[in-house]
Amino acid sequence: MISVHVDAARPGVTINKNLYGHFSEHLGRCVYGGLYVGEDSPIPNVKGMRTDVVEALKRIHVPVLRWPGGCFADEYHWQDGIGPKAGRKRMVNTNWGYVVEDNSFGTHEFMELCSQIGCEPYINANVGAGTVREMAEWVEYLNSEGDSSVVRQRWANGRKEPFGVKYWGVGNESWGCGGNMRPEYYADEYRRYQTYCRNYGENKLFRIACGPSGGDWRWTETLMERAGQHLDALTLHHYTIPGGEWDKKGQATVFDADLYYSTLKNANAMDGIIRAHLAAMDRYDREHRVGLIVDEWGCWYDVEPGTNPGFLYQQNTMRDAMVAALTLNIFNSHADRVCMANIAQTVNVLQAVILTDGDRMVLTPTYHVFDLYQAHMDAALLPSAVFADTLPGGVKQVTASASLKDGAATVTLANLHYSEAAEVLLTVDGMEKAAYEIQLLSAEPHAFNDFDHPADVRIAPSDAIRRTERGLVLTLPPCSVAAVTLRA
Ligand code: AHR
Repeated sequence: MISVHVDAARPGVTINKNLYGHFSEHLGRCVYGGLYVGEDSPIPNVKGMRTDVVEALKRIHVPVLRWPGGCFADEYHWQDGIGPKAGRKRMVNTNWGYVVEDNSFGTHEFMELCSQIGCEPYINANVGAGTVREMAEWVEYLNSEGDSSVVRQRWANGRKEPFGVKYWGVGNESWGCGGNMRPEYYADEYRRYQTYCRNYGENKLFRIACGPSGGDWRWTETLMERAGQHLDALTLHHYTIPGGEWDKKGQATVFDADLYYSTLKNANAMDGIIRAHLAAMDRYDREHRVGLIVDEWGCWYDVEPGTNPGFLYQQNTMRDAMVAALTLNIFNSHADRVCMANIAQTVNVLQAVILTDGDRMVLTPTYHVFDLYQAHMDAALLPSAVFADTLPGGVKQVTASASLKDGAATVTLANLHYSEAAEVLLTVDGMEKAAYEIQLLSAEPHAFNDFDHPADVRIAPSDAIRRTERGLVLTLPPCSVAAVTLRA
């Protein structure tokens, strides 16, 4: 029998709630049509923000939202997106589908969205095609109280109080779409840009440098060596490509057991990649002052047939739910150093938690995993160990993570097997007599929700758990995710 052991008597580091963060780019229908429909839309909205989507994001307590990109960030000029909408500059979004960007969603709209969701804003500024002055003035515009021309513009645009934005990214993928820079060059640029990003009032900026893609250790080493003392965190991007090759991604809903397992294998690579980057960072930061932020992660497939190739719209099945469960458990296990993560992307793009079509909305299996994992946010990580055989590709059949908050322990588990159930013995030291309940997300690997069947995949209470003399015994169906709550 598979067994999972948790020690509730030894709570460890706090799992930063920002590990459950999101990313929204001006890409396809993520912002326009997904999050924002404009005040004049017949789709119910508050100040242009879709009410159904905002309410769904509130239910999973999205802690932080990254914007405006992605590759778009390094072509975005924030001044184009403020002031009366009729006068806003139009541009062509050359990164994503060459569609017209009318800048009707800009800085104030993003801040309004974050306020409606109740999350922290994380702004990624333009280094590739921007200037130091542009970024410095964006920080000033949002955060300063001083009577400068920049701040007067904010007042004229209807906001007296500073917004106090803490999280600032300096460029995105500067090794690629963000300027094709060498790490040595970027490190110097980073130092220069961050110098002029000032702290205003009580708001101390959290400075985020562009880190590597996947296994580019040299980028991390060079950045840490040359600029490590000037940054609070660096970023990592790692996408799960099912077959491991960009030109053979395959479709979200079309896969066999082999491709399913290779998807999990590639998702599980996140653990080794994080470890290796942390080791590289350690050489220059023995005190572990600098954090790691995985601000783009998720599955990347071919777009749905008939959709704009530049919009990156894909369906989302139970396979994605398995990737989410595995990845979030990995993030929890690195909670001592990984301080934020942002799934790509919130709505209608890549591994979205929400899909929309006109006025209709569905919650994806990935959304339900975020829902099941909510209790981990700002909880104390508990030591846990899984004893299970590995599946094809080398991933253990069961992945688990545990935490403690307000006297309740939460254990999230997934049975990653494509077709077989798992009998799991769960023992939780210090909570042997606790009352328990289990919530389960379970469906066939290809199952998904669409606009005609929005609730085919959903969380349900389950009786697949019983107390025995040895501990709790769970029967997890194939391809399922569970959250077990224990209250002493
Ligand atoms: O998330 C889609 C794109 O993937 C982002 O714009 C870019 O940063 C990454 O390459």
